Amino acid sequence: MSADLAVTVAGLPLKNPVIAGSGEATASTEDVSACLAAGAAAVVAKSVNESAAARAQLRAAEYVVLDADLAARPLGPASRTDSLFCRSGLLDVDLAEWIAALAALDREAGDAYVVPSLIVADVDEAVRLARLCEAEGLRWLELNVGAPHAEEASPGAIATGVELVARVRSAISIPLTVKLRAGDSVADALAAGADAVCLATRAMAFVPDLGTRRPVLGTFAAIGGAWALPLTLREVAKAHLAAPDASIVGTNGARDGYDVARFLLAGASAVAMTSAVITEGPEVLSQSIAQLDQYCTEQGVTARELIGEAARHVHTYEEVAIERRL
Ligand SMILES: Cc1cc2nc3c(=O)[nH]c(=O)nc-3n(C[C@H](O)[C@H](O)[C@H](O)COP(=O)(O)O)c2cc1C
Repeated sequence: MSADLAVTVAGLPLKNPVIAGSGEATASTEDVSACLAAGAAAVVAKSVNESAAARAQLRAAEYVVLDADLAARPLGPASRTDSLFCRSGLLDVDLAEWIAALAALDREAGDAYVVPSLIVADVDEAVRLARLCEAEGLRWLELNVGAPHAEEASPGAIATGVELVARVRSAISIPLTVKLRAGDSVADALAAGADAVCLATRAMAFVPDLGTRRPVLGTFAAIGGAWALPLTLREVAKAHLAAPDASIVGTNGARDGYDVARFLLAGASAVAMTSAVITEGPEVLSQSIAQLDQYCTEQGVTARELIGEAARHVHTYEEVAIERRL
């Protein structure tokens, strides 16, 4: 028996709510194809922009898995109590060739989507690249205006802020997802014309190594883990309750299909998984789809019916006190 996992995001029909999120596991055409083969309904390619500094940053990228005691080990399989702590950058590719290659993959993707991702350096360049994506026939674009590394990046490499959305939006007519930082205004992103919002990018962190008394990785860096899920779920639930018709893509904390279900229950229509694909491989996408299928089958619901169900039943502290006659 198989449950109905179809959802709609940014007006586009998705065969299931599992998206491979932008990151090092979607940084080549082979990676994107592997995520499509694993059954992802959409694959968001590793982000690009025109800045040389952002590319140089990828050459200086470093990744470790931290265990529950904050001990670092090389990148590899991670458990739910581990974190992925890393510096990343943007792809060093010929942008016209990259966009054409993604468009070719998107044409072959059948019932799935290949989604280019832009992070702004210069907004005029972002507009030009967005137009190029549309001209190449790509059907969906993601714009990340909440990249956590922005403040550590070289000046001019990464710009953030919801005010960047309107220029890109007005330049293209294909569906646009805007990826935001926790605390960014979802209302402003929607008002600027986002067809979906992706909530929320990872946090920046600092981890001193007790042995060397120096920072792990030598820098501040972005951190994520299953522990981030409840924090992200609250962001998603608040956004869903404020704008119940908005398409929300959840990101930051999903490690399996049950986390995907949790994101749907909070109000997301789909879920972007990135760290899990980096540490476990694309198979985590097919496993998550199978787990979600099993969950929906057991619960006797469709994926669409889960969207926002738990959020709609959240009470204020005051309501709970009244109900319990406290
Ligand atoms: C190594 C790494 C590289 C990433 N690169 C990008 C990127 O280029 N563009 C982007 O929008 N998000 C990027 N992200 C953020 C992820 O897409 C995702 O939003 C975040 O990691 C939280 O989701 P997760 O818990 O599933 O990893 C990156 C994340 C990681 C771990």
